[in-house]
Amino acid sequence: MTTTNADEFVWTRPASKLFPGQVRALLRAWLIERKAARRQQWPDDFVSDAALVATELAANAITHAPRLEPVTFKATFSEPHSLWMGVWDCSPKAPVTRPMLGEDGMPVLDEGGRGLGITLALVAELKVTWTPPAGKWTWATCPF
Ligand SMILES: Nc1ncnc2c1ncn2[C@@H]1O[C@H](COP(=O)(O)OP(=O)(O)OP(=O)(O)O)[C@@H](O)[C@H]1O
Ligand SMILES: [Mg+2]
Repeated sequence: MTTTNADEFVWTRPASKLFPGQVRALLRAWLIERKAARRQQWPDDFVSDAALVATELAANAITHAPRLEPVTFKATFSEPHSLWMGVWDCSPKAPVTRPMLGEDGMPVLDEGGRGLGITLALVAELKVTWTPPAGKWTWATCPF
């Protein structure tokens, strides 16, 4: 399912490795179109930052949703100067945000576990909303 209009972009697909790239490309196109139509204005790096956040959330969703179960990306302007982006997946596991620095103040050198830390640095809020009977939205707001 896809809906695209001036205020909302929604993209639902079966979970697969294609999803994060699709979200990234389609979100960028939607934001660039909005700016061209002069519906919204923002600093130059806003689109790249928003695309990075969307990609991290989408990558996590397809990692934790069983393959081919539906995952949804949604972006909407929740306030005049804030973009809400969320990804829904059916996994009952909660996202865990790990600090970028260890207790010794040095960068953590684990192979993974950085995506949400990077996201946190780029957004105003990073939250989870559970959706009984199953799944959750992992969502962030990006002010501009
Ligand atoms: N949508 C999700 N559903 C279930 N667990 C999640 C979800 N998103 C994140 N998590 C949990 O939170 C942890 C941290 O996520 P994060 O994106 O920071 O790291 P990662 O995905 O493990 O690695 P990286 O993003 O650096 O490739 C994950 O390892 C996972 O345990
Ligand atoms: Mg990740």
